[in-house]
Amino acid sequence: MNVFDAMIQRRSHRGTFQKRAIDADDLEKLIEAARWAPSPFNVQPWELVLIQESEGKTALADLTERAVVAQFTDPKFLDDNSRWMRVNEKEWQERGDGVLLSEHVTLPKPLQHAPEKLLEELLKNAKSFALLGHLGAGKIPAGEIATQVREAPLLMLVTMNCKRFPPGQGATRWMWLSMGMLIQNVLLAATALKIGVQFVSAPLESAADRERIRQLFNVPTSYEIITLLRMGYMEEEGSGSVRLQTSGFVHTEKMKAK
Ligand SMILES: Cc1cc2nc3c(=O)[nH]c(=O)nc-3n(C[C@H](O)[C@H](O)[C@H](O)COP(=O)(O)O)c2cc1C
Repeated sequence: MNVFDAMIQRRSHRGTFQKRAIDADDLEKLIEAARWAPSPFNVQPWELVLIQESEGKTALADLTERAVVAQFTDPKFLDDNSRWMRVNEKEWQERGDGVLLSEHVTLPKPLQHAPEKLLEELLKNAKSFALLGHLGAGKIPAGEIATQVREAPLLMLVTMNCKRFPPGQGATRWMWLSMGMLIQNVLLAATALKIGVQFVSAPLESAADRERIRQLFNVPTSYEIITLLRMGYMEEEGSGSVRLQTSGFVHTEKMKAK
């Protein structure tokens, strides 16, 4: 697959995966793609943990479940989240950013066919749902995400060895940038191999959860846990996505004074 096609066709895959494991050849290609990512002074600060056995998957699924339940009780999280939720395709396409509510959360039955105006109102008051979160409203979405984590053929835990820092005051910044490049290489390679990938951020949000992950997977304290990817062969093609128009983020010579 041509690199432009891979960049444009890549999608975050939130659906289920085929049950089969990733072929050894394909896994090697994903790792090779990661290996050739650029980094400052070629320090290559990354280390990947490939998790294919149920013990590790279950531990991460359990952490994810607890983290999502907690998110549903956090008014600030709900409020910040609602800013980026789009209630229908039209709004999503027009705004060119954010995520589609129905793709992110399975709404409770009474809300699934609710008028969009009502959903918009609910989103505006998202922080008040923390009360429902305390009554267990997060358990259903949390259980769904946890199942997806548990059943993914491959989980890739991406870590950064902070001892491999480059020179200069910007060292940490440049290292994080190179981690993003490694991840994008993996995503593009996965797209070419018809492997779906989803970031699973919930279990990495809090320092306490990252500490648990560190202990579970023997990650040294000098390493940063960067991200967790859920991967597998897709059952069906992924859904659509949207982007801002180029005029919304490209400036010529200078930004306009604001
Ligand atoms: C750092 C990072 C964290 C993300 N975390 C999540 C996540 O926890 N769950 C999820 O479904 N998607 C997650 N995403 C995917 C974004 O929602 C997605 O890239 C964006 O909506 C654009 O959609 P697309 O990737 O299909 O083009 C994450 C993406 C990035 C780069």
